[in-house]
Amino acid sequence: MSIFNVELKKVVDDSYEIEAGFDLSDKLIKDLLGGLDGGLKKVAVITDDVVKPLYAAPILNKLIEAGYAAEMFSFPAGEKSKTREVKALIEDEMLEHEYRRDCFILAIGGGVVTDLSGFIAGTFGRGVPFINYATTLLAAADASVGGKTAVDTPRATNLIGMFNQPKKVYIDIACWKTLPYAQLSSGMAETIKHACFADREFFDYLDKNMEKIMAVDPEVCEHVAEVNCKIKYNVVMQDEREKGLREVLNLGHTVGRAIETLSDYRLLHGQAVSIGLIAQCALSVKMGYMTESEASAVTALLKKAGLPVAIPDYIDRDALVKKLYTDKKVRNGKLRFVIQKGIGDVVCFGEDVYATPVDEATAAEIIKNMQ
Ligand SMILES: NC(=O)c1ccc[n+]([C@@H]2O[C@H](COP(=O)([O-])OP(=O)(O)OC[C@H]3O[C@@H](n4cnc5c(N)ncnc54)[C@H](O)[C@@H]3O)[C@@H](O)[C@H]2O)c1
Repeated sequence: MSIFNVELKKVVDDSYEIEAGFDLSDKLIKDLLGGLDGGLKKVAVITDDVVKPLYAAPILNKLIEAGYAAEMFSFPAGEKSKTREVKALIEDEMLEHEYRRDCFILAIGGGVVTDLSGFIAGTFGRGVPFINYATTLLAAADASVGGKTAVDTPRATNLIGMFNQPKKVYIDIACWKTLPYAQLSSGMAETIKHACFADREFFDYLDKNMEKIMAVDPEVCEHVAEVNCKIKYNVVMQDEREKGLREVLNLGHTVGRAIETLSDYRLLHGQAVSIGLIAQCALSVKMGYMTESEASAVTALLKKAGLPVAIPDYIDRDALVKKLYTDKKVRNGKLRFVIQKGIGDVVCFGEDVYATPVDEATAAEIIKNMQ
């Protein structure tokens, strides 16, 4: 018998830039020609059918004018497209169009597009580079930044995926002007989540400037984009693979993700997260980490952003409690929650431990009381 030791120790530098600004498509082309393309001249532009005519088609034309062999691959807009099946359809289409390993992917759209495209990039030809061009507030605040990519399954959201970091992220704030109100509002849920666990001052800023944000005031929105990025990448830089600290980004998501799936995506991601934030506030008050008035301030801010704060009647409460067990934070069959501490902080339950076990009866009681 022979034993060989395959030495594969790696030092990896996955650092990348996030650029937030207005009308960034020309800057994107300039960066690509300046070396961001890594010498690759074949581009797969992945987008959905809403973003395609608005932003992806003009960018595709600019890519072709700049000498790239670029083609568009699009799918029907919405969460229901974030599946293994749609991933396979796009991959097959890319293969039919002679895409191999010598290409890169440009994802143009919201979180569904960036999550799906990043996952495709991670597995296509065993991995090709990708760039995110985020067109929603939600993608800017959370989805396009941080390298988590995934698809949903009928059982729950985001259970199948991989960590895969983009080469660069563009956050084009000008795109927010065409976002429907509900989508802008949905993006505010992740923004408010950031303020809740990391930054009291930002919480107050959001409260003071909500009308301007919803009217896409350039100066205010630029500030929101910058603070969102800072809060998110500060966490990701310390814990890329969610071994501890990164769980704080899951604030409100234990109940949120479960409701999102149970609503069959009638609730947008951010709307579901908003309800989840209310649930974790109630839990935090019960555990003595927040006052009633702090919890009310969170509720008021979510309402100000046009977000729902109650569980819709069509959601079966018992089914919801059962669905909580599909959460990725579950350990040894026990539910675990991230808990807010006051406003602008989160509870640390031990060295690098940011989620705590909560028994089913307590979770069920919180849900029952959220009428
Ligand atoms: N990877 C992560 O870390 C992470 C974090 C948070 C959320 N997510 C995921 O992000 C997704 C939600 O993101 P989303 O809300 O951006 O979803 P989305 O991509 O479905 O976009 C929402 C809708 O807005 C449309 N749209 C996009 N940009 C537009 C624009 N500028 N003008 C007009 N319409 C536009 C889209 O076509 C879609 O209909 C969920 O799948 C969620 O799981 C991922």
